[in-house]
Amino acid sequence: MLDHEALERMIDDDVGLVAMTWVPTNGGLVNPAQEVGNIARKHGVPYLLDACQAAGQMPIDVKALGCDFLSATGRKFLRGPRGTGFLFVAERWLEDLEPVTIDHFAAPWTARDQYTLRDDARRFETWENSYALRMGLGAAVDYADRIGIHVIEQRVRALAARCREKLSRLDRVIVRDLGEEPCGIVSFSADGVEPKTICAKLSDSGYVIGASATASTRLDSERRALPTLLRISPHYYNSEQEVDAAVDQIEALLS
Ligand SMILES: Cc1ncc(COP(=O)(O)O)c(C=O)c1O
Repeated sequence: MLDHEALERMIDDDVGLVAMTWVPTNGGLVNPAQEVGNIARKHGVPYLLDACQAAGQMPIDVKALGCDFLSATGRKFLRGPRGTGFLFVAERWLEDLEPVTIDHFAAPWTARDQYTLRDDARRFETWENSYALRMGLGAAVDYADRIGIHVIEQRVRALAARCREKLSRLDRVIVRDLGEEPCGIVSFSADGVEPKTICAKLSDSGYVIGASATASTRLDSERRALPTLLRISPHYYNSEQEVDAAVDQIEALLS
């Protein structure tokens, strides 16, 4: 877990941005996003938060987090279409940020030799985009709102805790999660059977689980000398029985 006291000691005049991943790809970790936001604010340093794995599994309140920028994807816990995502930019930054690519939507052609960037967040958008995917993203957000993000968070964490507890009882499994209140991502290694084989066998029975190798999580993987990790991410629609059955199947494969 990120040590926010250590972060504060590192901040000096050279720091131009604090950028953090709130919930990393694996490790179950939820980094202290709000504490980091407090430090960034106190020192007047802009704060970019990657909320890709957080969006859809826990509440996001950009004001409380104190972030200036927050990026997220639609395709993970939000259950939206692949290829969608969103960026939050605090209004006070709009004037200072020039998008990487602009077209006549983001920057109307206001005179022969002049363009004028839009003064709203849509300066980060382009004229051409997939309306179907955007509608899908909107529908996914509405769906999550109808269920209630607090209810989702509770349910996801309860199923993940059950999964961790069951996995930790298996002889050839090590649960690799970190942090005080792990989220809905359950990461573990299993001895004796290739992760790919475990994923394939579970998929045959209708359980989709993931595997992440060092290339996806290099810093954490090298620091903790991790093998390729397996990842179970239960969502609210999963049942306790499904979680139990998936873990039972892993146990059977390892024995
Ligand atoms: C923490 C984190 N940030 C960002 C991403 C990138 O997401 P996308 O490929 O949808 O942009 C991922 C993908 O796994 C992720 O785990």
